[in-house]
Amino acid sequence: MSAPSRQFVTRPGSHVAGEISVPGDKSISHRAAILGALAEGVTEIRGYLEAQDCLATLAALAAMGIRLDRSAPGVLQVQGAGLYGLSAPRAALDLGNSGTSMRLLAGVLAGQAFDSVLVGDASLMRRPMERVAAPLRRMGAEVRTSDGRPPIAIRGQQALTGCAHALEVPSAQVKSALLLAGLQATGRTSVREPALSRDHTERLLPSFGVPVVHDGGSVAVDGPARLEATQVDVPGDFSSAAYLIAAGLIAGKGELLIRGVGVNPTRTALLDILRQMGADIRVHPVASADGEPRADIEVRPGVLHGVVVPEDRVPIAMDELPLLFAVAAVAEGETLVTGASELRVKESDRLAAVAIGLEAVGVAVERVADGLRVRGGPVRGGAVDSQGDHRVAMAFAVLGARADGPITIRDVQNVATSFPGFTRTAQAAGLQISEEG
Ligand code: S3P
Repeated sequence: MSAPSRQFVTRPGSHVAGEISVPGDKSISHRAAILGALAEGVTEIRGYLEAQDCLATLAALAAMGIRLDRSAPGVLQVQGAGLYGLSAPRAALDLGNSGTSMRLLAGVLAGQAFDSVLVGDASLMRRPMERVAAPLRRMGAEVRTSDGRPPIAIRGQQALTGCAHALEVPSAQVKSALLLAGLQATGRTSVREPALSRDHTERLLPSFGVPVVHDGGSVAVDGPARLEATQVDVPGDFSSAAYLIAAGLIAGKGELLIRGVGVNPTRTALLDILRQMGADIRVHPVASADGEPRADIEVRPGVLHGVVVPEDRVPIAMDELPLLFAVAAVAEGETLVTGASELRVKESDRLAAVAIGLEAVGVAVERVADGLRVRGGPVRGGAVDSQGDHRVAMAFAVLGARADGPITIRDVQNVATSFPGFTRTAQAAGLQISEEG
């Protein structure tokens, strides 16, 4: 039975200001748990994101015999089983809505001794998986997809051999899956991307005692590797903070400070684009002992103008583009984004979902081959379907602050996949939003 549909209702009159923080980084949480499971000893993760996607990763690890302990407040302890210590799951691993869980775990399972099957919800079952299956096969893995989509069926007992991969599309999930397979392979596994995607896996591996080789534009590991348990401090998720940053810019009534946000440069291209639009955003670095930079981000409202987004910014702003389109809807003039066809294969076809939603609230939008052109102007109240996509839902929740009437955003339950407590945090920041259903 599918979960009951929930909705957001936004109302005019938001006054965004004050000081808030956001939950832990989703990408780092997945990786810390998976590497912790493959390590020897107990890894302690502070600030693990307790969102459905990251819980799906934990459930999969638990189904393969990994012991998890959350008895200390704010700390997740992962009892590592070593590189080959996972045990065969009794049933298919259900990763829910989480593409990151499915693709990263495919890399892990490609080198294990047992057979496994990976499935997910209706959205995940539609997403492309050959991008990870094909390069894993080159390493000797036996991986089947169903017409390129899940279920992914992996045959155990295949010895993996390291090889040099060149990705056609930058993808942190694929890169990470190959590095995770590479930990179990014989020899060197390297990955070259046409543009650098988020690099959290490469940054985390050395703290688990695994050297990472950076050579020109590629990143490599030598296998078989030995991982040692460590401590990971997860910063606030920049992708979650982005909704509050945008709210502070377009509906601010003073200064908004968001504390302790991860500002890894492979994640923050949205800030460059917003500044190009005229945004007043100040980043105050705070000390961090590990490889992930963090900062307090200060935002002040102001007039924004439309821009042509440089294509080299697009891959590393990909998750924030639905939000950028919402901001563009209230900026002066036109904003054009191209080179964003990857948006079509995310949790929904985000280009279509955003275009339909913007039209429903009176915003002029033109579909171009691999992007959208949005003309800023008045925003009406209306009803928007998020298509079950968390990032589309939150983007329209922010846009609602500038509409001249209520906006109802349908099918928002998947916001819990990445940002638990979004409604509460948005209200605390001053957004007029309620959640119903
Ligand atoms: C993620 C990588 C990105 C991003 C996704 C999370 C990750 O996808 O869109 O939300 O944690 O590795 P790509 O694999 O397309 O880079």
